[in-house]
Amino acid sequence: MICPVILCGGSGTRLWPLSRKLYPKQFLPLVDSTTMFQTTVLRAGALPGTDSPLILCNEEHRFLVAEQLRLIDAKAAAIILEPVARNTAPAVAVAALRALEQDQDAMLLVMPADHVIRNTDNFTAAVQAGIDAARQGKLITFGVVPTAAETGYGYIQKAASLDNAADVFTVGSFVEKPNAATAQQYLDSGEYLWNSGMFMFRADRYLHELETLDADILAACRTAFQNAKADLDFLRLDADAFTKAPDNSVDYAIMEKTSDAVVIPLDADWSDVGSWTGLWEIKTKDEHGNALDGNVLVEDVEDSYINATSRMVAAVGVSGHVIVETTDAVLVAPKDRVQDIKAIVERLQQSD
Ligand code: GDD
Ligand code: MG
Repeated sequence: MICPVILCGGSGTRLWPLSRKLYPKQFLPLVDSTTMFQTTVLRAGALPGTDSPLILCNEEHRFLVAEQLRLIDAKAAAIILEPVARNTAPAVAVAALRALEQDQDAMLLVMPADHVIRNTDNFTAAVQAGIDAARQGKLITFGVVPTAAETGYGYIQKAASLDNAADVFTVGSFVEKPNAATAQQYLDSGEYLWNSGMFMFRADRYLHELETLDADILAACRTAFQNAKADLDFLRLDADAFTKAPDNSVDYAIMEKTSDAVVIPLDADWSDVGSWTGLWEIKTKDEHGNALDGNVLVEDVEDSYINATSRMVAAVGVSGHVIVETTDAVLVAPKDRVQDIKAIVERLQQSD
């Protein structure tokens, strides 16, 4: 059985002002009427041969998680609460420790809760294609054909296919979030795929790699998990121990360094809703290329995303912009500057 590991502890700062610390994007119905977290749980449940998911989130979001699971009638194998965000490498370590308690051969399928995957059949096929290699100890990544020189993604250089599996490829190199010039070079070369951020590996293999590559994470997570306490439907990690875990992602800690990564091409209409333009891209647009949510009036507006949550928003003569209105904040930005919203959020956090 595959154990889905749903990561939903991110803060989604680039989707400010809708995505907030207490209500990050994965818990908002931004794309469909269900939230991206709920869609991820449903996607995991629809895969053949999977158990109930392990869900890892920040303790601040525990009731959001429980309520959103209830609304779609889903049950988690465990909802594990992190006292502080330490990025994805520690979260997956805790998931691996929990999964091994139930099954020494546990296989993890790591699924970020902020993705849209429209073609579930191709997604299922890609997961199936990786099972044998993962059983044999490979660390599976799922690679998407890049369409732009995005700097917010990991890049996987696809090398030769494995001897016994034509659709599984060895990884020449894995580079997390390259700079713009390098990303462009990778795009032009045609040799690289974007890392989709989903992984599949045996739980024991992941912990073994972590022991070699970042033993401090493993040590902190072991103690945090051993001393975790059940609280209602949740498992609270020990705060002192977990706080000591270095902050690192699976990508930087493991995937850039391991020699056992392989990549399976994923052609499943995948998108990461990482920014307002990411959302604009997957939304239905009018004949002028506008995606409009809520009470929005436009005149001579093109190529824009406008979202009004509490008041009417009217725009005239605007092109290539994002406008997002909430009760207490309004964002206006050209579409090519939406990555810089992070800077505003950082300034707000400093003045907290
Ligand atoms: N539980 C938990 N704890 N989850 C976390 C934490 C944490 O501390 N930090 C992030 N997450 C969750 C996020 O909610 C998201 O679902 C997922 O882990 C990935 O984190 P992001 O912060 O969204 O990563 P990223 O988008 O910058 O980069 C990753 O995804 C890209 C594709 O979307 C990397 O894997 C890239 O290589 C990849 O291209
Ligand atoms: Mg992301």
